[in-house]
Amino acid sequence: MNVMQTATPAVSLSEKGLHVILADGQQAYFNYYWLRDNCPTSFDPATRERVFDIFHLDQPPRAETAAFDGDALMVRWQGEDHVTRMPVATLALYADGNRRPDPADLPRQAWYADHYPRMARFSQPELLADRGKVSAWIEAMIVDGVALVADMPDSDAGLTETAQLIGQVRPTFWGSYFDVRTHIKPTNLAYTAKALELHTDTPAEEVAPGVQFLHCRANSVEGGGNLFADGVAVANDFRAIDPEGFRLLSSIDIPFYCEHDGYDMRARQRVIELDDKNEVSGLTISQHLADMFDLPQGLLDDYYPAFCRFGKMLQDPRYVMNFRIKPGECITFDNHRIVHGRAAYSATSGERYLRGCYTDRAEMRSTYRALVGEGRFKT
Ligand SMILES: [Fe+2]
Repeated sequence: MNVMQTATPAVSLSEKGLHVILADGQQAYFNYYWLRDNCPTSFDPATRERVFDIFHLDQPPRAETAAFDGDALMVRWQGEDHVTRMPVATLALYADGNRRPDPADLPRQAWYADHYPRMARFSQPELLADRGKVSAWIEAMIVDGVALVADMPDSDAGLTETAQLIGQVRPTFWGSYFDVRTHIKPTNLAYTAKALELHTDTPAEEVAPGVQFLHCRANSVEGGGNLFADGVAVANDFRAIDPEGFRLLSSIDIPFYCEHDGYDMRARQRVIELDDKNEVSGLTISQHLADMFDLPQGLLDDYYPAFCRFGKMLQDPRYVMNFRIKPGECITFDNHRIVHGRAAYSATSGERYLRGCYTDRAEMRSTYRALVGEGRFKT
């Protein structure tokens, strides 16, 4: 009797996809649509965009034959004069259905009141000259959510060129830049000499800007100390001591507003923001811009105590970093994570002028990936 010794086939075809055994013995399944749509020939080398149109295939894609050839899987398609040469490295990356690794997905590190001496610091001329310093700056912004840029030029252009190292200046409904100093007819609490409670900016925008820059141009007043706290640190601790309050603040939207004669901005936001791993990624909070809560009054029996307990925690000296920003410094921070405020000051005691603008978090991460990552198309 003859016994045929056959090795396990490395590729077997089925109706909707194929099974393969990769080099490390890992068994994996790939859907035919996915294999056909992501054929390396689908992507234009100049634009790096997909130019293959899977919507216009006459039949669902199906392999006629498939076999490994060196470092690629060769797939000949039924009813099409086309062969896909899919690199084994690509198959290995997508075999388990996990998200593509993201170099900008760095773990957040919570910080407390004593963070000031350890806060990441950069010199603006060095940032302009060295892209490596820019990636270190963005890394600090992703991990800590805050960094200080010193040696800023005493000019409007200095702020613009600094912000543009991360992304485009992102306007809000107030425009591209804002001036924090005492205004004669203030439209915002920031434009007075009064104390400004810890908050995130422009919660009444549908999507509040992600990264804030505050460039100090003058600060000779009495008072006006800067207050910053890490929303992630506070919300993580709140989660531990009050899980039900945390659930309410991270699942119920509350209304925010910003209203004057010519505008009436409104948006609903969750105070505690969670990411797709269910970890705290940030906050949206502002007492001076919180609208009258239009939630069922019975729900407020539970919501308000949780909201106040959390707000009180935010102000706990354990979390609040106190310092005084100096002319020539620009504090840069994640507006969805770091809460900021200031003590009251005496408007007649000197001059206090901070000029600010925003960029977006997604664009900051894009810049970071471009600086440090391999990318799918980099050669
Ligand atoms: Fe603010």
